[in-house]
Amino acid sequence: MTHPSSDVAERAAAGFFAQFGVEASGRWAAPGRVNLIGEHTDYNEGFVLPFALPMRTVVAADRQDGEHWTAWSELSGEAITFGADDVAEPGRVTGWGAYVAGVVWALREAGHPVPGARLAIASDVPLGAGLSSSAALESAVLAALLDLGELELAPELQPRLAQRAENVYVGAPTGIMDQSAAIRCRAGHALFLDCRDESVEHIPFDLDADGLAVLVIDSRAPHRHADGEYAARRRSCEAGASALGVAALRDVGVDQLDAALARLDDEETRRRVRHVVTEDQRVLDTVALLRAARVRDIGPLLTASHVSMRDDFEITVPEIDTAVEAALAAGALGARMTGGGFGGCVLALIEADRADAVAAAVTDAYAQRGFAAPGTATVLPSPGAT
Ligand code: ADP
Ligand code: GAL
Repeated sequence: MTHPSSDVAERAAAGFFAQFGVEASGRWAAPGRVNLIGEHTDYNEGFVLPFALPMRTVVAADRQDGEHWTAWSELSGEAITFGADDVAEPGRVTGWGAYVAGVVWALREAGHPVPGARLAIASDVPLGAGLSSSAALESAVLAALLDLGELELAPELQPRLAQRAENVYVGAPTGIMDQSAAIRCRAGHALFLDCRDESVEHIPFDLDADGLAVLVIDSRAPHRHADGEYAARRRSCEAGASALGVAALRDVGVDQLDAALARLDDEETRRRVRHVVTEDQRVLDTVALLRAARVRDIGPLLTASHVSMRDDFEITVPEIDTAVEAALAAGALGARMTGGGFGGCVLALIEADRADAVAAAVTDAYAQRGFAAPGTATVLPSPGAT
């Protein structure tokens, strides 16, 4: 994993100049995220608690005449151009450009007169590692286009629009967490988001002051069937909700869980439902502990979340489980996979002075099992889009 670098904004600006021969008129940035707790709860209208990473995607941009958009990304090294026809309906731009075209499409679909634009993109959010580089890209592009076009869209409405770009234009059936985190997070806080009404509360999560750190471990496990499995989990949850006669699994409380499970015939659906219902409660319990400034006490909830993802939701892989076990054995207060699953990252809550020891223990465990070396970085809750 790359360490947070301060020169991403300069690289975007330099890329813009190299590509277009003039200075950009501005720069807009949005972060990647980790989810502290609350996994696969967002599309069940439940609760999540992400925080923004110091790693960011930066877009340097200016307007151009006509309905044309040209985007260059340092990561692909190529520029793509698309016009009004390409954003008339989803699917016409593919590959990474779809995330940019999707935002233009979603803005136009919502009735905003999007100006033509040139954009240069640089990022230190790792791609495809479950840290939401895609939401960072969408959110930074959205911020740029809103400003360049002097378009009005309240911050609380922006995540839904960016999510539509991903769900409808790109075609990934993800929930509202990632774009909300990229746009609405605050430094030093986790974002307590109610995914039903999108109300938020910024919960102080000042790790530094407590002598704590969050270690993010990139498992580097190849995403195995992640897209199909994600959609399958969504379908199981919908089937569970419909069999229980509720609008969404959010409507089942932990006190009603046993009775609800007894009404479900299918064993797999029972386990999926149990994960979501208990996970929502773990988010609420985590928030209560953080409000009481009992940060160390959230560790067991993080670990319980992992066990539930491993055994009931069945979305972990050996590299991920190994990272969690090794981190806990090396003294982490709690550890869990973060993100959609089937690879991606683990987060461990640790005493700040244990960061090197825990990272080394995970690296050793990987070597013993013949896995490719993991990436590690300590991170602090950082600002949302700027
Ligand atoms: P995640 O969002 O967890 O990183 P996804 O697979 O959902 O993983 O999204 C990653 C995709 O987003 C990349 O394959 C690429 O198409 C696009 N993407 C993200 N950031 C950039 C970037 N800086 N430049 C170009 N494409 C990007
Ligand atoms: C992500 C997805 C989010 C959320 C998460 C699991 O991949 O983008 O919306 O569902 O998985 O909590």
